[in-house]
Amino acid sequence: MLQQSACAKIILVGEHAVVYGVPAIAVPVSSLRAFAHAVPAETFEIRAQDLGKRLSLDADEPLAHLARLTLERLGCSQAPAFAIEVHSQIPVASGLGSGAAISAAVARAICAGLGQSLDNDALNALVYEIERFYHGTPSGIDNTVIVYEQPIWFVRGQGIETLSVGTEFSFVVADTGVPAPTYESVGDVRRLYETQAERIQPILERIRAISQQARHALAQGDAIGLGRLMNENQECLEALTVSSPELERLVQAARHAGALGAKLSGGGRGGNMLALVTPETAETVHTELLKAGAKRAFITRIQHKVAP
Ligand code: PMV
Repeated sequence: MLQQSACAKIILVGEHAVVYGVPAIAVPVSSLRAFAHAVPAETFEIRAQDLGKRLSLDADEPLAHLARLTLERLGCSQAPAFAIEVHSQIPVASGLGSGAAISAAVARAICAGLGQSLDNDALNALVYEIERFYHGTPSGIDNTVIVYEQPIWFVRGQGIETLSVGTEFSFVVADTGVPAPTYESVGDVRRLYETQAERIQPILERIRAISQQARHALAQGDAIGLGRLMNENQECLEALTVSSPELERLVQAARHAGALGAKLSGGGRGGNMLALVTPETAETVHTELLKAGAKRAFITRIQHKVAP
């Protein structure tokens, strides 16, 4: 049956602050994907080879819960006679949205297996439920950018806004190789927020201004401005304690190699960082990041786009 998929994502600006209602900007990485498809089987199960898991429909696991929710949403009261095979190119626990992408691909494969479909709003709501399993208090940014596969301006609890992009922007994404579960860094920021509000609140307000200016820079095609804002956002994330020596080594290496700006992306403490480059500096920054210890690095682009 037809293979279904969902993309990875990067957060340009606003991670962590987005949990507290501050706007953030996220963009899809369409070249890196999770795949799922239905294959004939006597009883329903999810076969996630990469994770070394075979899950029955009643398993106490997020993906089995997703399958139950999806079937319920489709009005299907019996376990279907197919299995869902899943594999993913997206590294786990690295800030690229692997969990949400796998969930979205599996839900799409269940729909396709039943010859039905769900619109993006319904799919987004389902994937969000599963994000809550993984993260506790997710803002919803990962599932939203991944399900709609468009650059988004995201404010928790509000409808999505797609973004205008004034020119093509190129980024190098590099992985520290240090897995870092998002719920831990989100939990630590929560504790800071609750115990040191007078210190944390101004940082969140600074990030709000950064997101607003970054939206403008994106729309204007202002790469220099966007790079400066990414650097400023990295400072804020360091102040929120979610950076790490490995991330900072890569951020510095990217800036020295000519990146216009660099910051961690996603939950932080490990996982991936992001460097804004020009077509002329992309290769050098890519090479220097690998030399500085990145376990993987790739180049991704945001296309020029006029929002409707
Ligand atoms: O899943 P990650 O590591 O890309 O992080 C998601 C972004 C956070 O702002 C850190 C958490 C959230 O729920 O928005």
